[in-house]
Amino acid sequence: MLTVARKHDTTETNNRCEEKKMDGSKGLETLSAEVRKFISTPKKILIDGQWVNSKSGETFEVYNPATGEVIAHAQSSNKEDVDLAVKAARRAFDDHSVWRKMLPSERGRIVSRIGDLILKYADELAQLESLDNGKPISVARAADVVLSADLFHYMSGFATKLEGQTLALSVPFTPGAEYHAYTKREPIGVVGQIIPWNFPLLMAAWKLGPALTCGCTIVLKPAEETPLTAIRLGEICMEAGLPNGVLNIVTGFGETTGAPLAGHPGVDKVAFTGSTEVGKLIVKAASNDLKKLSLELGGKSPNIILNDADLERTIPGAASAIFFNGGQCCAAGSRLYIQEGVYDEVIEGIAKYAKAMKIGPGLDPTTELGPMVSQIQMEKVTGYITSGKDEGASAASGGGRHGNEGYFVQPTVMVNTKDTMKVVQEEIFGPVVVATKFKDLDDELVRRANDSVFGLASGIWTQDISKAHKLAGRIRAGTVWVNCYNIFDASMPFGGFKQSGWGREMGAAVLNNYLENKSVCVML
Ligand code: NAI
Ligand code: MG
Repeated sequence: MLTVARKHDTTETNNRCEEKKMDGSKGLETLSAEVRKFISTPKKILIDGQWVNSKSGETFEVYNPATGEVIAHAQSSNKEDVDLAVKAARRAFDDHSVWRKMLPSERGRIVSRIGDLILKYADELAQLESLDNGKPISVARAADVVLSADLFHYMSGFATKLEGQTLALSVPFTPGAEYHAYTKREPIGVVGQIIPWNFPLLMAAWKLGPALTCGCTIVLKPAEETPLTAIRLGEICMEAGLPNGVLNIVTGFGETTGAPLAGHPGVDKVAFTGSTEVGKLIVKAASNDLKKLSLELGGKSPNIILNDADLERTIPGAASAIFFNGGQCCAAGSRLYIQEGVYDEVIEGIAKYAKAMKIGPGLDPTTELGPMVSQIQMEKVTGYITSGKDEGASAASGGGRHGNEGYFVQPTVMVNTKDTMKVVQEEIFGPVVVATKFKDLDDELVRRANDSVFGLASGIWTQDISKAHKLAGRIRAGTVWVNCYNIFDASMPFGGFKQSGWGREMGAAVLNNYLENKSVCVML
């Protein structure tokens, strides 16, 4: 349903953009020659090592969210293309002569080379990401691209360390028998990976890095809003020496590309990042043949500020917890709980920070807040702001759309909120934070912080280490940041409690998503 709605939106936007030129369009002057060439060449899908058109020949338009202009065309893959991609991945997995036979050290070197090449092409990737998603180029360079390279480098070392155990059996019904028993960790098989648009390159890295390290084969589906860096990453993977068929990439829409991938009988496991609604659809699609699943879904993360917090650090920290990436961040610190002694000062400080943010196209190096990724997302976010106001909340800063071109939303701090309001309960996925006051650090605060169907992340700001650690133990979330926020590292597992998902990304924990345990029991 969601996807159909977006397709309508896309068509409307198409009509509006029909007259506009593609190259040399506003704001694109800073693009390098490589990026210009990349976007002006019709994009293809990757099947069995070859870049090909979709069978139907249908394409879809890719937009610059800062202007609404068409910047590129990508293949609209359907069931038939997905089937070819899965079959290629299946062959590459079931055939034991190439990928499965490769020495773990060589597999690790390929994964590491992917990291090296991401750094080599860092500038190009940052430009593409900023253009396609709208995020500030400074952020794409410093965070998305570098973290993506790091992830491949970090994961590559595990290729030679996927170890099992030897077991000392005590079988009671075979008196006198001796055994040699051990466990092995083996790749789970063909993996379908479906990723979102908020961190297109990084989400591809989070998924591909561990799956390749574990020796799986893959069909990757980027989000229809942002297919460009995943396609470029596919080229990079092939340049790094990945054998044909190990990585296949199909671009297209959720219902026509994602759904057939999630339900395909040739897929052993699906890894998904995106909305909780679609996460539930993926669970249904996978239930036919009980595919393994990992899900990284939504969040509505509490960010708790105590009276003793160092406000010089806390105010910019809590502001960027929500405004980073335009709030289009599953971990965004979107529910602020501020102790009453510092409430006024914190609200004033965050509102001031919000008002001073430089809003503009991602490619402008001075931009601090880019556009929302799409018209649909902008309308969703402004709709929430209106709903908050209708229910009695007010805006201490922002409160609506910014400008009338592109998909910009003002960074907004909502006050006078109540815990039952939609803006407090639901994921907005935009630069909108809801703030409330609390009196004491007690069970009631913990109850309110945990009063969410989600449990992805959380923040605590205090100088009292006992309070920090006690509270960290009581928040039901996969990550607790203390005196910092949105700190991600390849070594640190990330994922959700409750409806925020199943399984963890990154760290050694992610390997469980892509490995099966096998017990081998030998009677001697
Ligand atoms: P979405 O969940 O529809 O999209 C994520 C991916 O799933 C995309 O690649 C999409 O093509 C694919 N998809 C959509 N329908 C599918 C289906 N039936 N079967 C298989 N794959 C399917 O998210 P959307 O519509 O882009 O955004 C809606 C809301 O979801 C956002 O406003 C935000 O609240 C949340 N979201 C959360 C993300 C996260 O990181 N946890 C990322 C993106 C969105
Ligand atoms: Mg959707």
